[in-house]
Amino acid sequence: MITVALPKGRIADETLDIFSEIFNKKFEFENRKLILEVGGFKFLNVRNQDVPTYVEYGAADIGVVGLDVIIEKELDIIQLLDMQLGLCKVCIGIKNEDELDWSKPNIKVATKMENIAKNYFASKAVGVEVIKLYGSIELAPLIGMCDAIVDIVETGNTMRENGLKVAQEIMDSSAHLIANKNSYYSKKDEILSIYEQIKKVVQRRANS
Ligand code: PRP
Repeated sequence: MITVALPKGRIADETLDIFSEIFNKKFEFENRKLILEVGGFKFLNVRNQDVPTYVEYGAADIGVVGLDVIIEKELDIIQLLDMQLGLCKVCIGIKNEDELDWSKPNIKVATKMENIAKNYFASKAVGVEVIKLYGSIELAPLIGMCDAIVDIVETGNTMRENGLKVAQEIMDSSAHLIANKNSYYSKKDEILSIYEQIKKVVQRRANS
């Protein structure tokens, strides 16, 4: 049995759709159920930010999580595959009428991605004060709590609707298949087998 941690929502649905294609049977969480067992797999329906925890602790053998989360949390896991789902960018956002003043001694940045933000500004040798938030990051510059935000931009709608613009792109992100290190050795054949099958579907979809 392989346990798979999936991030609630679209990425979980799209990953289960890949499994449905591979095994030619239905993989779908029933109404509000958090566990799905089918075809030798146990799927856990967890919060996006919690996927790495389940995988690092070995509660899940493999999982699907954004590259931004892998980098933010400096995870001690094995990265198997870019699943090319959930494509987005990590960006610096500012108010439409603002320009980012890189010469400011201390730029105030609100974000849920503290490490990515700190590392990026450090790489530019710019002082930064990071304000940690857990969501609705776009609100912070609007009420004057910060000069800029570091956040995920997917469609760009949230920033647009709130009068913000991208000042700088920091990195591209997408959902990656990851594995727990111990599981990768103890269940290597099973994990490599499902990895190869997922890879085939991902490649086929990329080419179609
Ligand atoms: C993410 C991100 C942005 C939004 C970007 O938030 O933090 O707010 O999506 O998407 P868009 O460019 O398509 O508008 P999420 O929906 O994950 O909610 P959260 O703020 O609760 O983390």
